[in-house]
Amino acid sequence: MHQDISSASAVSLAPDGIVLAIETSCDETSAAVLRGAEVASNVISSQLEHSRYGGVVPELASRAHLSVISTVVREALSEAGIGIADVDAVAVTSHPGLVGSLIVGANFAKGLALRYSLPLVAVNHIEGHIYSAFLNAEQPEFPFLALVVSGGHTALFRVFSFRRAEVLGSTRDDAAGEAFDKTAKMLGLGYPGGIAIDRLAAGGRADAIAFPRAMMRDDNFDFSFSGLKTAVRTYLQREHPGGVADASLPDICASLQEAIADVLVRKTLRAADRYGLRDIVIAGGVSANSRLRSLFAEQARRAGRRVLIPAIEFCTDNAAMIGLIGRQKLLGGSADDLQFTVHSRPLRAERRKPGSFRDIPAFAAKEADSASSDGGS
Ligand code: KG4
Ligand code: ZN
Repeated sequence: MHQDISSASAVSLAPDGIVLAIETSCDETSAAVLRGAEVASNVISSQLEHSRYGGVVPELASRAHLSVISTVVREALSEAGIGIADVDAVAVTSHPGLVGSLIVGANFAKGLALRYSLPLVAVNHIEGHIYSAFLNAEQPEFPFLALVVSGGHTALFRVFSFRRAEVLGSTRDDAAGEAFDKTAKMLGLGYPGGIAIDRLAAGGRADAIAFPRAMMRDDNFDFSFSGLKTAVRTYLQREHPGGVADASLPDICASLQEAIADVLVRKTLRAADRYGLRDIVIAGGVSANSRLRSLFAEQARRAGRRVLIPAIEFCTDNAAMIGLIGRQKLLGGSADDLQFTVHSRPLRAERRKPGSFRDIPAFAAKEADSASSDGGS
């Protein structure tokens, strides 16, 4: 059963209304309460069961969401000091993500909406990241540039309003977070690997190994990180055939981190120049990286740009950012009905279709048009 989300029903939410938001697109189960624009709670339960596999195992992820979701939602309500009867609307991530994981959150949200007769709104996870800087005290001004850089996505957007953002470029293969995670797996550092690499890099030399910077010369805003992963593998086979000694880890991590940060910072600043945008928002899990933050701060100051990075709890996957977008949609008078479906469609697959993804409401409708075969609730 498939319903185009553009045929949403009309609702109204008071500006100080209470939104309960749920996010289960990958391996974090999160629930948040927004009272007006203020985040009253943001509970995040991270799944540890994937660590020994070096990546997220979808079946384990959906089971783990199922086992904790009601506790996480209850905690979010209690931390906000409210009960379900106080909630005015429910927002939930519908795409993109792991279908089995998305279904858990979507069905839970649908159940609440049905039982308590609440308006329900389906939210695009990437939209959540793009606007997550609005959860900070220091907020961006439209139009701004947004770099979404996570385990699943690496893309640059020109953001005009809450209703409109244009994709300037995205990764052609792996996301930047995957380059961190796959290198960490090769080095035996577990999953997720970004934070382990970040910590080890602190004691290493960033210029120790010249890892490649892909697509730097291209006159576009796309990225590619799969060659970097291959370069690391080749380097390890050549220089450390018997395995990497602990003493060599910091230099490898610092050099890899530098290669990723260098490409992200330079291409983003180039886009800011091209489109004359002062404010740059960096969001998604990789924006927690310390070198990416310091390089952005340093280079952007020199270029006269303002860099805004959400607090760490709003950088990695969280329900507060879903609540923020859900609230905007509800304030604009739209909601979804109980038939909406979840789907996995990543940005990079959509980008292959010329003309698609030009602005957010348009891509939401296009995705919904072809979503039913991806599975759903
Ligand atoms: O946004 P997020 O929580 O989930 C996705 O939507 O993918 O991002 C997770 C990604 C993982 O690849 C993880 O390794 C990376 O963010 N990450 C980091 C750091 N902290 C998390 N990468 C580099 N340095 C970090 N400090
Ligand atoms: Zn994410």
